[in-house]
Amino acid sequence: MEFVDLQAQYRRIAASVDARIRTVLEHQRFILGPEVAELEERLAARVGAKHCIACASGTDALLLALMALEVGAGDAGGPDEVITSPFTFFATGEMITLAGAQPVFVDIEPVGYNLDPQTIEAAITPRTRAILPVSLYGQPAEMDAINAIAARHGLAVIEDAAQSFGALYKGRHSGNLSTIGCTSFFPSKPLGCYGDGGACFTSDGALADAMRELRNHGQAARYRHTRVGINGRLDTLQAAVLLAKLDVFDEELTARAEIADRYTALLQDAVQTPRVLSERTSAWAQYTIEVEDREAVETALQTDRIPTAVHYPTPLHLQPVYAELSRRRGWALGSFAVAERAARRVLSLPMHPYLEPAEIERVAEAVKKARSGQAAVASGR
Ligand SMILES: Cc1ncc(COP(=O)(O)O)c(C=O)c1O
Repeated sequence: MEFVDLQAQYRRIAASVDARIRTVLEHQRFILGPEVAELEERLAARVGAKHCIACASGTDALLLALMALEVGAGDAGGPDEVITSPFTFFATGEMITLAGAQPVFVDIEPVGYNLDPQTIEAAITPRTRAILPVSLYGQPAEMDAINAIAARHGLAVIEDAAQSFGALYKGRHSGNLSTIGCTSFFPSKPLGCYGDGGACFTSDGALADAMRELRNHGQAARYRHTRVGINGRLDTLQAAVLLAKLDVFDEELTARAEIADRYTALLQDAVQTPRVLSERTSAWAQYTIEVEDREAVETALQTDRIPTAVHYPTPLHLQPVYAELSRRRGWALGSFAVAERAARRVLSLPMHPYLEPAEIERVAEAVKKARSGQAAVASGR
């Protein structure tokens, strides 16, 4: 059993992927070729944003968004600050730091694992420039509340939608819920390519122009550099793969949701199963349960040859690279209790649209068996 079975997906869409790739091989326009523009048009139309800027990864998407907003080193008074979640993949904090700004962590909500809007306002200072919520595991953050806080304080909002492309929030698409939305096309993401890829969405024309230039060495026109940017373009071949995958994406999202429902029906009496909050859907990038004795469950599943993953074991404020920042800010173990508890307990189970009913049952049975084994140990049986 695979954690994410990309081969099963390829077996289904091989003809269209191969045809798309062949077209690129024939025209040989590997950098910003016609498939990139076609993809950008289709993705923008899908999420309802005026602009989509395809780029080389979700990481670059975050960097481009921050650079376009001119969030960075600040002035003599200190670096700009960006409020974000400590319970995320490292790239979220990493790009804030790389841009020259400082991540300011606040705690998350226990259901959904996303930024708790109640914790944000107390963290705003005169240096705060943006709020960067993460829509973790595929479920959008509480974007209306976050946008309202940002509007009151004149801040930008960047949604890290790396895991949530395809999800809806109050009928609107993740990626198009704030000033800029950033997503990832890493192969295992709900919409993944065959290498690295990502995209930024915005309906602000000036920000779109900035991100378009920044991803291409700050070029406003060929060899006319108006900014310092990066080489952050999406390869034409990756755009071609994504165009083929887009044709089946909605069916795959439906399959993911059905698989998640099946897991939950089988597991809800045994472990803490994930909950999708009201007025939104999840893209189910991950199906993540919570268990007390995670290591024992992981080991038991490993014995049954069932792959699992922990997203993520260490909150960002406890990462070695942020030791100095945390010391200065007074963050330590205990500072973000909800995030820390989640980091100790979460366990992601195999999740992809091609999981067979028998596989789902096998995983659920193995989890239940591991849990009852633990209960027996705990009760001395
Ligand atoms: C929440 C989050 N942010 C950012 C990224 C970075 O995306 P990429 O791997 O495409 O650079 C990821 C991908 O793993 C992610 O899960």
